[in-house]
Amino acid sequence: MAVIATIERIGQFVGQTVTIRGWLYSKRSSGKIRFLLVRDGTGTIQTVVSKKDVTAEAFEDTDRLTQESSMVVTGTVRADARAPGGYELLATDLKMVQVAAEYPITPKEHGPAFLLDHRHLWLRSSRQHAVLRIRSHVIQTAHEYLREQGFTLFDAPIFTGAACEGTSTLFSTDYFYDQKAYLSQSGQLYAEAGAMAFGKVYTLGPTFRAEKSKTRRHLTEFWMLEPEVAYADLGDLLSLAEQLISHLVQSVLTHRRRELEILERDLSRLEPILPPFPRITYDEAIDLLRSRGVTIAWGDDLGGDEETIVSNHFDRPAMVTHYPLKIKAFYMKAASDRPDLALCVDVLAPEGYGEIIGGSQREDDYEQLVARLVEHNLPREHFEWYLDLRRYGSVPHAGFGLGIERTVAWICGIAHLREAIPFPRMLQRLYP
Ligand code: 4AD
Ligand code: MG
Repeated sequence: MAVIATIERIGQFVGQTVTIRGWLYSKRSSGKIRFLLVRDGTGTIQTVVSKKDVTAEAFEDTDRLTQESSMVVTGTVRADARAPGGYELLATDLKMVQVAAEYPITPKEHGPAFLLDHRHLWLRSSRQHAVLRIRSHVIQTAHEYLREQGFTLFDAPIFTGAACEGTSTLFSTDYFYDQKAYLSQSGQLYAEAGAMAFGKVYTLGPTFRAEKSKTRRHLTEFWMLEPEVAYADLGDLLSLAEQLISHLVQSVLTHRRRELEILERDLSRLEPILPPFPRITYDEAIDLLRSRGVTIAWGDDLGGDEETIVSNHFDRPAMVTHYPLKIKAFYMKAASDRPDLALCVDVLAPEGYGEIIGGSQREDDYEQLVARLVEHNLPREHFEWYLDLRRYGSVPHAGFGLGIERTVAWICGIAHLREAIPFPRMLQRLYP
């Protein structure tokens, strides 16, 4: 038996005989030679099957192989600058595992609804594969980076008893003993308890919003990375945000360049993503918008179009701080010199990708927080545990949530968030 190799690492085996286990991407024939493009999940390689090198049975099998048939092929690795990927395999043996039925996704154009209905197969296409590998890299790199910075991973529950980000976007479900449970909109409140226990924590998991919005920036289920830090203020948060985002982008540029090339991403838009990021206040953003002819009242939230106008001004993510307190969540701390403003930040990605991070310094004063719960009409009894964090050793603290799909969509340069997650959940999509 030859050693089993992955296509990604095939360069280590030049001149040796290896076995590749995969699926047929495409094939062409020319006389007594078959050229099979084989993928194995880590890459694709051209496999040359010559009649003279394999058994008659194996050679005949190549003609039965359809697109996506599974197969195991053994051969000698050859470096060839002209081959896609730089290597090819000269087959000495080939075994079919299953001959695939006629594959629904062909190289011709399919509409988005058809592709989404076949998401379970579409995942195998080179662009989708590239996006999801970058997603995996972003998540793994975030874990590594935060661990190196001394953060403890702290998993928040998905079933929760109350709202965190406003009651209008809650998914509810029946729970035991006539109770209602809500799917978590954010792990933040629990992360705050974690920060008081461990100093620096982060949660990374799925979050849910019953958003009736059909935009390309909204999913009903999305993943969020939420660091939360004790003894930290808004300034500390801005540094963490720009360091983390830069690290993620630079790491993808270094380790997932091949995937960025498959996606034909303009790398010159990612290369400048390094600290410091521009910081502008909400007031300045309003001035900027008005100077561009946008009619917007002070106190209005920035919509997608406004975010794009602001972010187009910069080549790096723009950190917009100090939004009006009244349009932000109940837990945000007011600025001491301007109590109508929140000590908060929205990080707007360049190229119109919109808000990738939302975060703030938290209200750490017990009385103030109680008043905010009342203002927001939130049932205090559900938040007694959260108020305890202000009763027992309250400290200034801050955190943010980074949307994984928005970050991945931006890094990949793809138009819609639905391709940045394996199985997107949207208003009208629960299948497959
Ligand atoms: O600004 P948001 O709502 O903030 C929070 O949930 C805070 N509790 C986070 C925290 O401070 N720990 O959401 C944070 C990020 C947004 O910037 C965006 O990237 C993403 O989550 N996000 C969505 N992504 C996809 N679909 C949606 N419907 C999203 N809503 C928010
Ligand atoms: Mg937000």
